[in-house]
Amino acid sequence: MLGGKRILLIIGGGIAAYKCLDLIRRLRERGAAVTPVMTRAAGEFVTPLSVAALAGETVHSDLFDLTAEAEMGHIQLSRVADLVVVAPATADLLAKMAGGHADDLASTLLMATDTPVLVAPAMNVRMYEHPATQRNITLLKGDGVRFVGPNAGDMACGEHGPGRMSEPMEIVAAIEQAMGDGPLRGKRVLVTSGPTHEPIDPVRYIANRSSGAQGTAIAKALVALGAEVVFVTGPADAPRPVGCEMVEVESAQEMLGAVQDALPVDAGVFAAAVADWRVKVASGSKIKKEKGKLPTLEFIENPDILATVSQMSEGRPGLVVGFAAETCDVIGNAQAKRLRKGCDWIVANDVRPETGIMGGTENAVHLISEGGVEDWPRMGKDEVARRLAVRIAEALARES
Ligand code: CTP
Repeated sequence: MLGGKRILLIIGGGIAAYKCLDLIRRLRERGAAVTPVMTRAAGEFVTPLSVAALAGETVHSDLFDLTAEAEMGHIQLSRVADLVVVAPATADLLAKMAGGHADDLASTLLMATDTPVLVAPAMNVRMYEHPATQRNITLLKGDGVRFVGPNAGDMACGEHGPGRMSEPMEIVAAIEQAMGDGPLRGKRVLVTSGPTHEPIDPVRYIANRSSGAQGTAIAKALVALGAEVVFVTGPADAPRPVGCEMVEVESAQEMLGAVQDALPVDAGVFAAAVADWRVKVASGSKIKKEKGKLPTLEFIENPDILATVSQMSEGRPGLVVGFAAETCDVIGNAQAKRLRKGCDWIVANDVRPETGIMGGTENAVHLISEGGVEDWPRMGKDEVARRLAVRIAEALARES
């Protein structure tokens, strides 16, 4: 997919720069040509020699390099690429981009380019969460800059949280997505997935058997068609899909908040198995055993995320797809659910244990819309996802 494409890779000065060596290899394996640019600080973390050897091209780093300027001016350098990728994008580089600075080769190229830009931020968690960085990210997103990551986890500096640069293969997936010309290119789609955990006390929770497999497969299928996917997931077993904007939540209330933050979107697919109830007052400390005394849990209803989004009077996604997990009168119940919640489509499935669907790899679904009911044969969850993604693309194309 990347054959014949040229990527201008701007390497910023952060410890994550070492991952760029692998990124360059992965891109070249896929047929892309990589023009490397390093900031002065990047040279403190990886050597231009390693970068040049892997890219098979000269490393550009000096704005006032007369030899390079004679061969290819920096304006031209910024325009020969199909995509500009900034990895790692440090807090400083993001600030320069947001402020329109052009005081070194990297920032000048970013100002001079007319090609799409994808950035992979990497920095200490405090720097990432600092209001200045968050403000810059918002500004850049508003300018049409695409983002991949950062991920949360242990950091080289010993702290923990969001700020780790995405892994090379995640960046490759984002690059393929940015350059893809699938039918969902330019469309933003939200997917909810997995179970929710509703706390009883700090160590206990109520959950369900959802593995997140179907939601994950749908996110992947949408990415493959070129969509920008926001993946809001509860604590699920399924490996995370790459190439998505990932939001990890625990409870139904957190999931609703994450969904509302992700709007506006062109379409929403609500595949999560959201807990219908939560414990009214979760205990702040661990509930201790007391001889002869059994605890009683009082429940209250969780917000219905699908219904909330379906019934929005302003900013409702153009297409809202819900799921119905039923154990009897599958179609009748699902049709009633579609009307009750106000979504456009319902993907209904039979989750009686003997079907092996909940937690399994296959699914047999009925697609229910205003137009009627379609029965799809039993097939792998990946295939259900691909078919659904194609149908979503067709529906959005009809709309625009
Ligand atoms: N859903 C949601 N928020 C909830 C409950 C469900 O967004 N609090 C969404 C699910 O993601 C799914 C759809 O609603 O897309 C159907 O969920 P399901 O649990 O099958 O339906 P319920 O509304 O819980 O109805 P019932 O329990 O009567 O089957």
